[in-house]
Amino acid sequence: MSNPPVPAPPSAAGTWWSDAVVYQIYPRSFADGDGDGMGDLRGVLDRLPYLEQLGVDAIWLSPFYKSPQADGGYDVADYRQVDPLFGSLADFDAMLQDAHRRGMKVIVDLVPNHTSDEHAWFQAALAAAPGSPERGRYIFREGRDEAPGSGDGNRPPNNWKSVFGGPAWTRVSEQDGSPGQWYLHLFDTKQPDLNWENAEVQEEMRAVLRFWLDRGADGFRVDVAHGLVKEAGLPDWEGVAAMVEGTSRPRTDSHLPGEAPGAHTDAEEPHRSVSPMYPPSPFFDQDGVHDIYRDWRRVLDEYGGDRMMVAEAWVEPAERLARYVRPDEMQQAFNFDFLLAGWDAERMAEAIEASLAAAESVGAPCTWVLSNHDTVRHATRFGLKDPTTFPKGIAEFDEQPDAALGLARARAATLVALALPGSAYLYQGEELGLPEHTTLPAEARQDPTFFRTRGAEIGRDGCRVPLPWEENQPGFGFSATHGGAAARPWLPQPESFGPLAADQQDGEEGSTLELYRAALRFRSVRRLGQGTVEWTDEHAPDSGLLAFRNGDVLVVANMGFASAPVPEGFKVVLSSGPEPAEDWAGMQEVPVDSTVYLQRG
Ligand code: NOJ
Repeated sequence: MSNPPVPAPPSAAGTWWSDAVVYQIYPRSFADGDGDGMGDLRGVLDRLPYLEQLGVDAIWLSPFYKSPQADGGYDVADYRQVDPLFGSLADFDAMLQDAHRRGMKVIVDLVPNHTSDEHAWFQAALAAAPGSPERGRYIFREGRDEAPGSGDGNRPPNNWKSVFGGPAWTRVSEQDGSPGQWYLHLFDTKQPDLNWENAEVQEEMRAVLRFWLDRGADGFRVDVAHGLVKEAGLPDWEGVAAMVEGTSRPRTDSHLPGEAPGAHTDAEEPHRSVSPMYPPSPFFDQDGVHDIYRDWRRVLDEYGGDRMMVAEAWVEPAERLARYVRPDEMQQAFNFDFLLAGWDAERMAEAIEASLAAAESVGAPCTWVLSNHDTVRHATRFGLKDPTTFPKGIAEFDEQPDAALGLARARAATLVALALPGSAYLYQGEELGLPEHTTLPAEARQDPTFFRTRGAEIGRDGCRVPLPWEENQPGFGFSATHGGAAARPWLPQPESFGPLAADQQDGEEGSTLELYRAALRFRSVRRLGQGTVEWTDEHAPDSGLLAFRNGDVLVVANMGFASAPVPEGFKVVLSSGPEPAEDWAGMQEVPVDSTVYLQRG
C-alpha cells in the first residue's frame, strides 16, 4: 500500500517553528537553582547547556508568573510578574538571553481563560456590587431558585461541572455578608473564568502579549485555547467536562489525606469522561474563539522574528483543530490525537493520516506530542496491559506498569514522532525515559483534581515529579546546594529515578538520553521535520506494523507480536532497541516493540 506524499505546508516554509523540536519545562520540577526544593528560572539557566547538547530548538516554560499555585501556576495572580518561588524578571531575562545565545527560542505560557482568584481584578470584583464594571470582567450570574419564585438563588446558574470535578460555579458573599452572585470557573474555584466579551479583558491580554514579546519571547503556548468563549445564555449541558477522554472511577480503596482508607464508598458513580466535543459543549470550541486568535495574530505580526502561538485545544475531530491554525490564526496546535492513540499501529496510523490531512488543508505544520504535564508519562502508559488506555493518574492500588516494556515502547514511539514532518514537543524527563510516579502517597498529592473528585481522579502529580540529575546526590541532584544541606524536592521522587539520572546516562551507549540525542541529530541533519510521509509496502497496521518513508529514510515501527524482516536492500541506521550501534547495520529483523530508521545500502 502506498499513497502520494503529503506536500510540505507552504505558509510555514522557512519559519523556525515549522519543524522545531520544543522541550517543555515544568518550572517547579525541572531544576532548582536556589536550593529550596522547588525548581526555578535560575535552575533552567544552569541547565541550558544540557538542553543545547540534547539538540532541541526551543523551550516552552509552563507558567512561572505570580500565583498562589492552586493549580501549579495555571492560576495567575499577575501576568507581568515572576513568582518569587521561581525568581525574578531579571532571572527570566538572563535565562532568555542565554537561551538565545545558544540558539534556542523561548515560548512562554499564556493563561487567558481564567485568572487566579487572587488577581487584583477578581479581588476588585468581589468588593464591587453585582452589575459593576469590576464584575463585568468575569462571569458572574444570579443563582437559580431552590423552589420556583423563592428568590433565594441557592442553585448555581446552570448545571456545568468543573473539568476538575464538582460544580463549575461558586457563590460569593456580598459586602453586607448576604449570600450573593455566583461566578463561573471551568477549573478550580480559585480559577475564575474571564469574560471574553469584555473589551477591557481583550485589551489587557493584548497588552500582556506585548509585555512578553517586548522582553523577547518567541511565542506563546495558549492554555485552554478552546475555552475562552461561552455560548450565549450559558445553557445547561448534559455532557461531562474534561480536558481529555480518560478513565476515573470510584475509589472505594482510596482516601484523602487525613481520612481513613475506604472513606469513599459514597464516591461518585464511575464514569468514562466523554470527549468535550461530542455533543458540542457550550463552553468549548465555540466559533467566537477564532476572532480572538486573529486579533492576537495581528499583534504578533507587528513583531519580527516569526513569533508564534501554539494552541492547547482538546477538540476533535482533526478538522476542528485545524481551524485554530488557519493562516491568520495560530501557527500550531498540539496534536492530542497522536498522544491519545497509544501504542497501537492502527490507531497511530489513523492519527498520523488524519492530522497530516487536516493540517495540510489549512497550510499548517503538524505537531507530535506523546507526554506533557497533564498526562501519565508515555513510558508508563505503554507498559499497561492495554497500552492505549489513558488513566487520569495512577496510584499504588491501580494496575502497575511493566516498566521495561513501557520504556522499550516509549523509545520506539518517540522515534516515530521524531521522524514525522512538522514540529515535535518533548516533555522534560522523557529523554531520560522517566516513568510516572505511580505510588505517590495521598499526603504528597497537590493536584486540585485529586481533591475536587475526592480521589476518584488520582491526578497529575505523578508526571510532575522533580527530575533526577545525579544519582548519588540527595534528591538526585534536583536542588543546587550551594554548600548547604539539600532541601527535599517538593514532590518525592521514586527510587527508580536513581539509575535514570542524567549523569548515569550521559555518554552511555544505548541509554535513553543518548538515543534522544542521536535521534534529534538525525532528524536535524536529514531535515525530517520538513519532509513528507509516504506509507510503504511494509505498512500493515492491522498486523502491528507502521512503515513510512520520509525522504530517503524508511521508518519501521513494530507494535505487533512477531519480529518483522528488515526490507531487502536496507540497513538499520538508528534503532530504539538495546542493540549496540555496531550491530545495527547487520540487523535482519525489526524486533517487537521497537522502531528502526533504515536507509538503502
Ligand atoms: C491546561 C493546563 O495544561 C493544565 O495544567 C491546567 O490545569 C488547565 N489548563 C487549567 O489552566
